[in-house]
Amino acid sequence: MEIKKWIIACAALVFIAIPLCQAIASSEGSENEGKNKWYNLFNSDSSYYEDRRNKSSNNSSDNKRRIRRNHKKFNYKKTDSRRHFKPVESSVYTQECGSCHFAYQPGLLPSGSWKKILVGLSDHFGEKIVLKPELSLEIKHYLTSNAAEYSISKRAARILRSLGGKTPLRISDTPYIQRKHKDLPKSIIKRSSIGSISNCNVCHMTAMRGIYSNRYVHIPN
Ligand code: HEC
Ligand code: HEC
Repeated sequence: MEIKKWIIACAALVFIAIPLCQAIASSEGSENEGKNKWYNLFNSDSSYYEDRRNKSSNNSSDNKRRIRRNHKKFNYKKTDSRRHFKPVESSVYTQECGSCHFAYQPGLLPSGSWKKILVGLSDHFGEKIVLKPELSLEIKHYLTSNAAEYSISKRAARILRSLGGKTPLRISDTPYIQRKHKDLPKSIIKRSSIGSISNCNVCHMTAMRGIYSNRYVHIPN
């Protein structure tokens, strides 16, 4: 009986007391004092957000560093596919449709839109695109079977709801996406580093991963 008690006391010392001491020591010693405390997490987050809002000011290298740090903290394996879009999985699609612009996730448009886009490839926003029939079929299958209707992403559902059955040729013509960018001045979009609202991946640093959260927006100068 006595021995058991001793074992429990020792285990408690190892698993509770030592990490506690370490935590106290590191929080006292660290340069950003108090920043890591749980009650400050929200505050530090919102100051990050404020910083990003002020991105037009000239401290953008500082801003970039902060975004990079946030990137590391973010565990992509744990990303909730209900909040984000499923990343593109078809290499044929990426190859054929991702050379002029970023390969948009199929969940960004309803299948009706993708069908219209593929039918109209001979005049694709002024470009003539010729696909081999078998590739065209594979791309069509990939896009339509992963379109917004079949996505579990909340944003895809919002895009669909905002469309009310319409099938535009552009993601940037959907009311949901337009609403999300209504505060973005035209002068910013016209910057040579951006060029067009269609270049999602220029401002959304995590666009390739299907993540458009406003935390990961960085507008280049
Ligand atoms: C030869 C270059 C080229 C290729 C290849 C290409 N596109 Fe495009 N695509 C464009 C251009 C140019 C635009 C218009 C971009 C703009 O307005 O800034 C565009 C726009 C789009 C848009 C609308 C983006 C928005 O504003 O929401 C979609 C969707 C799209 N393309 C899908 C595809 C698909 C699917 C394929 C593959 C079959 C493809 N593209 C291949 C040149 C290309
Ligand atoms: C010029 C830079 C820029 C481009 C290009 C751009 N966005 Fe955005 N996007 C933003 C900004 C800024 C916001 C708003 C962030 C905020 O609310 O603070 C935003 C917000 C969003 C949101 C909502 C995020 C949220 O958390 O509510 C979505 C979804 C989104 N963008 C998708 C897209 C898609 C898809 C494209 C390409 C068709 C695109 N964006 C192109 C800058 C851009």
